[in-house]
Amino acid sequence: MRGRFITLEGPEGSGKSTQAAKLCERLGEQGIEVVKTREPGGTATGELIREILQHDRAGEPLFPESEALLFAASRAQLVRSVILPALEGGAWVVCDRFADSTTAYQGYGRGFSVDDMLNINSFAVDGAQPDVTLLLDVDVALGFDRIQKRNTENGVENDRFEREAREFHERVRQGYLALAKRFPDRFRVIDASRDEGSVQCRVWETVCRALGMEAG
Ligand code: TYD
Repeated sequence: MRGRFITLEGPEGSGKSTQAAKLCERLGEQGIEVVKTREPGGTATGELIREILQHDRAGEPLFPESEALLFAASRAQLVRSVILPALEGGAWVVCDRFADSTTAYQGYGRGFSVDDMLNINSFAVDGAQPDVTLLLDVDVALGFDRIQKRNTENGVENDRFEREAREFHERVRQGYLALAKRFPDRFRVIDASRDEGSVQCRVWETVCRALGMEAG
């Protein structure tokens, strides 16, 4: 039987990565084989693209058009080499960001046509549509407080997206909420301003309900 495909989306500092890890643990405890991956990245090619996108590795300013297509290229590689083979083999896939990130960040955030972004995504993903997308929604200011704290603790600088203006991130957040309204069958919005444990419970209940599993 084909596995299930779950994606986590949200603005900066929404806690997606932590929640993705916890969700995978919980699914594993149910005896489900889970493949956890992330975007951009998840393949050798994708990780190289991630360096360009996030850390200016090429050493030159990136045009927004190139940025959009590089995200799509990383995704095309990940879908074909990791996601589709895993799903076809019966494993479940949990992906930390996926195509909706391009629509939210490059479409709503950068101001490209949302329909153009949806078309680029559909070319990249070869029909790999998430069964459920968890939108971890958080206020931009709160998300940034979390990021500053984490980056200071880890002694790292803000990356290229974290350096964008607050207005950019506000458009991204509103864009995500618009997508959740536009695709209500697939999206579930979770309030990610709450503490980690509460969000974890909501994530689990939501996945169980969306995919018809016992919450246990
Ligand atoms: P990441 O370290 O995964 O950030 P986060 O912890 O916030 O998920 O970095 C991914 C960054 O790339 C993030 O700022 C969002 C951005 N992004 C896009 O702009 N478009 C995309 O299609 C994807 C996948 C990510």
